[in-house]
Amino acid sequence: MYDVYQIKKDFPVLSALVEGKPVAYLDSAASAQKPYCVLEAMNHIYKTAYANPHRGTYYFADAITTAYEQARETVCQFLNARNSKEIVFTRNATESINLVAATWARQNIGKGDEILISEAEHHANLVPWQQICSQQGAKLVVFPVSDNGEYIPEEFATRLNDKTKLVAVTAMSNVLGTVFPIKEITSAAHIAGAKVLIDACQYAVHCPLDVQDIDCDFAAFSGHKTYGPTGIGVLYGKSEILENMPPYQFGGDMVDNVTFEHTTFADIPARFEAGTPASVQAVGMARGLKYILDLGFDNILQHEKELIKYATSRLLEVPQLKIIGTAQNKGGVFSFAVGNIHPQDLAFVLNKENVAIRIGHHCAQPIVNRMGYQSLARASLGLYTTKEDIDALINALLKAENFFRER
Ligand code: ALA
Repeated sequence: MYDVYQIKKDFPVLSALVEGKPVAYLDSAASAQKPYCVLEAMNHIYKTAYANPHRGTYYFADAITTAYEQARETVCQFLNARNSKEIVFTRNATESINLVAATWARQNIGKGDEILISEAEHHANLVPWQQICSQQGAKLVVFPVSDNGEYIPEEFATRLNDKTKLVAVTAMSNVLGTVFPIKEITSAAHIAGAKVLIDACQYAVHCPLDVQDIDCDFAAFSGHKTYGPTGIGVLYGKSEILENMPPYQFGGDMVDNVTFEHTTFADIPARFEAGTPASVQAVGMARGLKYILDLGFDNILQHEKELIKYATSRLLEVPQLKIIGTAQNKGGVFSFAVGNIHPQDLAFVLNKENVAIRIGHHCAQPIVNRMGYQSLARASLGLYTTKEDIDALINALLKAENFFRER
């Protein structure tokens, strides 16, 4: 049985008091909190087995190399990839996407080609493609969503054609919460001859990301959103594609043989991991993924479903509140506006009430603007979020609405 109150106790910061009161943390879409097991896994390495992986022959170096490669195995299992060679460790999802843009896309996108993205992309899955298109003479094509943030199959289908070389799409919007049918999108893209990159930053904590079942060519997510540390992310790529990609950065550990005249490069995934890797962070991330798997996606999804229902009905109790993004299939992300109260003012009052939300354009300016706003407030859920956290949000919003209405 999923006991959210017990789960919450696994996350030390969620018991921290600010000015004597607990905090309702509703910003997990920006970054999730870390359970003790992640902190302990990282601490354990630093205390018992820290060294630079892949470079030494002594005990510590061996131990960290094993732990780092085991972390890769865990990610491989988490994604149901065929082989751990298909898992590249990066700094975060942004770097994973930039890696594909700087290597695969430079080789494979040319004049007249098209890259197809959704209107709801995060800047990380938009700006790299925009830059590549302008450098290579290609065209960035955008398929719109409906006014309530719903995926519209026809809008995607009419923009997919034999010029489309890449479909880069989020699996779950960080603004609207919309879950995109990535398997269906991938299959259609492949029929058109395009490769597919999935931005799984929000989705990876929402649903199992089975890359073999989806059949995507690339997928990216970040450790810090999956209850792991910052500074570590993942690029999944099909091995036959990664093997044909040039290196991303140059330096130690990514080479085979070096002379002053010539360098040959290491096999995948090392070819894409130049320099000392974030090995301890990789171990922490793997522990976070294991924590998710131990709780079970079915249980997490059920909890999220109940909370989404509860939060939706409670939010609508706030006068003048409009939820932006009400797709049928959505994850635990609620962007909203309250009348014409500026989100900055809302957040100020909420902070006084110890309610932590994010405001702004959420690194996805085009979709926020398309919905008619410059800035939105956003509350997002994690696997530790309780109904009481939602109640704290509603009480604070009611206070804010009342305060600003009277002015
Ligand atoms: N992408 C993160 C967010 O949506 C930072 O807040």
